[in-house]
Amino acid sequence: MNQRTVVVVSAGLSQPSSTRLLADQLAAAVVEAGAGQGLQIETKFIELRDLAHDIANNLLTGFPPAALKEATDAVAAADALIAVTPIFTASYSGLFKSFVDVLEKDTLADKPVLIAATAGTARHSLALEHALRPLFAYLHAVVLPTAVFAATDDFGADSADGTLRSRITRASEELARELERRDPVTVLDPFALTTNFEDLLKTI
Ligand SMILES: Cc1cc2nc3c(=O)[nH]c(=O)nc-3n(C[C@H](O)[C@H](O)[C@H](O)COP(=O)(O)O)c2cc1C
Repeated sequence: MNQRTVVVVSAGLSQPSSTRLLADQLAAAVVEAGAGQGLQIETKFIELRDLAHDIANNLLTGFPPAALKEATDAVAAADALIAVTPIFTASYSGLFKSFVDVLEKDTLADKPVLIAATAGTARHSLALEHALRPLFAYLHAVVLPTAVFAATDDFGADSADGTLRSRITRASEELARELERRDPVTVLDPFALTTNFEDLLKTI
């Protein structure tokens, strides 16, 4: 089976977090949609709450602490990203934006990204379109057509069959199709020897 890795970034601050709940539902749906496309999708979760101090330190010093470096490397090596933020003050949260700010240049170039958000009110659902989509477009990511928004009320008892569920399914299928028609990402080792040792000796 074709293997792919999807990194799921969740920027919720509460515990338990509705943002993480949405991230979990999206990840499960993507695994299922991938299986339908003949893909075995591994998901890796990055909880930005756990990296908040590291992100601030990276912004101040220019260097990522080990745990943050591991997270940003995972994003770079991923075949796709699911990015889920709570809506704070009608936009993505500051922590979410700060994580994007510490990613190396071109990390997200040509990478499929499924954008999603949670919020207290449905009135701010368009923040996905006026804040998240332009952010990732600027970074040259391939932002999927369907964005997934969940207000607090969407997590009610009948949400499993409702609009939220159908948007999760639709977005997940878009992501699975995008993954299916792409080759897996390969990460080059910057320290790998590109010529063999004998050839190197001949040049001395
Ligand atoms: C500082 C702050 C600002 C917020 N601003 C908005 C907002 O502008 N619009 C909105 O609908 N909800 C807003 N909310 C509500 C959160 O988006 C919502 O509770 C979210 O689902 C929390 O995610 P979490 O449970 O993963 O922490 C805000 C919450 C906080 C703490």
